[in-house]
Amino acid sequence: MFNLVLFGPPGSGKGTQSENILKTYKLQHISTGDLLRNEVSNMTPLGTEAKKYMDQGMLVPDEVVIGMISSKIDETPDARGFIFDGFPRTRAQAEALDKLLEFKNTRIQLVLALEVPEEDLIKRLLGRGETSGRSDDNLEVITKRIKEYHAKTEPVASYYQSQGKLERIAGHHPIPDTFKLLCKEINNYILPA
Ligand code: AP5
Repeated sequence: MFNLVLFGPPGSGKGTQSENILKTYKLQHISTGDLLRNEVSNMTPLGTEAKKYMDQGMLVPDEVVIGMISSKIDETPDARGFIFDGFPRTRAQAEALDKLLEFKNTRIQLVLALEVPEEDLIKRLLGRGETSGRSDDNLEVITKRIKEYHAKTEPVASYYQSQGKLERIAGHHPIPDTFKLLCKEINNYILPA
């Protein structure tokens, strides 16, 4: 099994590149943002609770997100591997993921961190906000999401760096060019399926 974390600030291209990677390498995509938005649109109790945090650009509590990930991994026991997109976002989530994968006799092999200048992030997310219908794609909430990223998520990079798993990728290039840079790293572990 090959397990990849796609890491980076809001708007860095995690969702976009996950789509490209999963098609090329036939991996299962787990996006905690998508899972949470699904709960919100189904108006589940979890979704109602999560929405309060998401609308303010704050992280949803760890225990909620970790529980969702665990059941999602169990849904596809025969997966070739997983792309974790937008997870882990705190050190507690990273440690919980390590334990979950260890229990399944596997581990995270690679963490690709997309690096994009902040003005590009804001431009991209405002652009997406014109059509996405995402209630968090407006300037006030985007600014809070980026602040939350620096405060709580960026430190997770050093957790993986100390394990020798982190590769930083310049994510300001056009989408196909960034994809090529990501593939170059992934090909060291698995080849396209
Ligand atoms: P989530 O859905 O994960 O949002 P995010 O991290 O803010 O990421 P985005 O989806 O906004 O950006 P992305 O990096 O995926 O970029 P994308 O490819 O879409 O989380 C939303 C909320 O849910 C959080 O704020 C939090 O409340 C909660 N949450 C989620 N996970 C959580 C967790 N683990 N713990 C706690 N809370 C959690 O691209 C963005 C735009 O840019 C698109 O329009 C795209 O077309 C464009 N674009 C992409 N690449 C390029 C490029 N190279 N050049 C030009 N444009 C590009």
